[in-house]
Amino acid sequence: MIVLGIETTCDETAAAVVERFEDGRGKILSNIILSQVSEHAAFGGVVPEIAARAHVEALDAIIKRAMAEAGRSIDDLDGIAAAAGPGLIGGVIVGLTTAKAIAMVKHKPLIAINHLEAHALTARLTDATPFPYCLFLASGGHTQVVAVLGIGNYIRLGTTMDDAIGEAFDKTAKLLGLGYPGGPHVEKEAARGNATRFALPRPMQGRKDADFSLSGLKTALRLEAEKIAPLSDQDVADLCASFQQAVVDVVLDRLRAGLRMFRARYGAPSALVAAGGVAANQAIRKVLHRLAFEVGSVLVAPPLELCTDNGAMIAWAGAERLALGLVDTLEVAPRARWPLDEIAAAKGRLMTKTSAYK
Ligand code: KG4
Ligand code: ZN
Repeated sequence: MIVLGIETTCDETAAAVVERFEDGRGKILSNIILSQVSEHAAFGGVVPEIAARAHVEALDAIIKRAMAEAGRSIDDLDGIAAAAGPGLIGGVIVGLTTAKAIAMVKHKPLIAINHLEAHALTARLTDATPFPYCLFLASGGHTQVVAVLGIGNYIRLGTTMDDAIGEAFDKTAKLLGLGYPGGPHVEKEAARGNATRFALPRPMQGRKDADFSLSGLKTALRLEAEKIAPLSDQDVADLCASFQQAVVDVVLDRLRAGLRMFRARYGAPSALVAAGGVAANQAIRKVLHRLAFEVGSVLVAPPLELCTDNGAMIAWAGAERLALGLVDTLEVAPRARWPLDEIAAAKGRLMTKTSAYK
């Protein structure tokens, strides 16, 4: 089964072709990503209007490259998958409409994918991870702990009450005059800083639930920085180190609570799966390894290019759904908001391959 996947929910224009074999294993035939980071860098964050226009300009060529690199033609495809949300609506419209156009003209099944579901299923593409597993998704837009029980069967165990973890890294970097995206800069500065110099809070620590809160931490950091301004290079490094340590402690505590909830409800997870750009952070990865070990499980952290936004994860989620006959009609709407655990409830919108395309 060969599926094209299109991803345009944020600032990456991506298309990929993935093959799924009968035994459930997958293979990436091509995975093309065009990052818009340089177009947004001057603004210290993603500008939705710029992103949407950039997707329109780039997407056709990116799809063409993905097909060429895979050595397949559109006629060879068994389905066209696109991220239908959640994300910046202008970009989502571009990707989903393009997928609909191809599906309509070529009479191929359309699979509208929830972007978070695609992150959740990537571990099955890379490591054939069996259900159930515990997903920790931490990116610029999301911070979630999810029990992944089956295709379309996701239970959110925890989420952030305010900022996403990646967003907190980005805001910290902006405050300290470092570049965008902030995560890698903060991590680099933290490596030469003193993590104990500033006493920053560990929000939500000790709570039974698995929810996060990052905005208080960010505010505390700003107040510390204002107190000692103007900042020397060492001040910046110490602030980054103290911030990163606080995040690591928060992840340890909150995810430990999430894993406890997981075990109580579903038994031992087959793996702790990391996804999202924040998983690139070495200090956070270390703590994830420790947590997986604690629950007698393993950490599955897909390679970085598959942890961050990409087309292969959309194509793969499309292939997993298509294999079950879960396809969508051309009426499916793009969604700015689309919580993961709504997917099971929305099964009514799904039609079988035959009924939708006869
Ligand atoms: O998954 P991703 O590429 O895009 C989405 O947000 O969907 O994640 C990007 C986020 C940014 O907020 C970035 O600052 C953060 O991941 N990030 C990091 C690191 N590398 C990227 N955060 C902490 N440490 C890093 N090394
Ligand atoms: Zn993402």
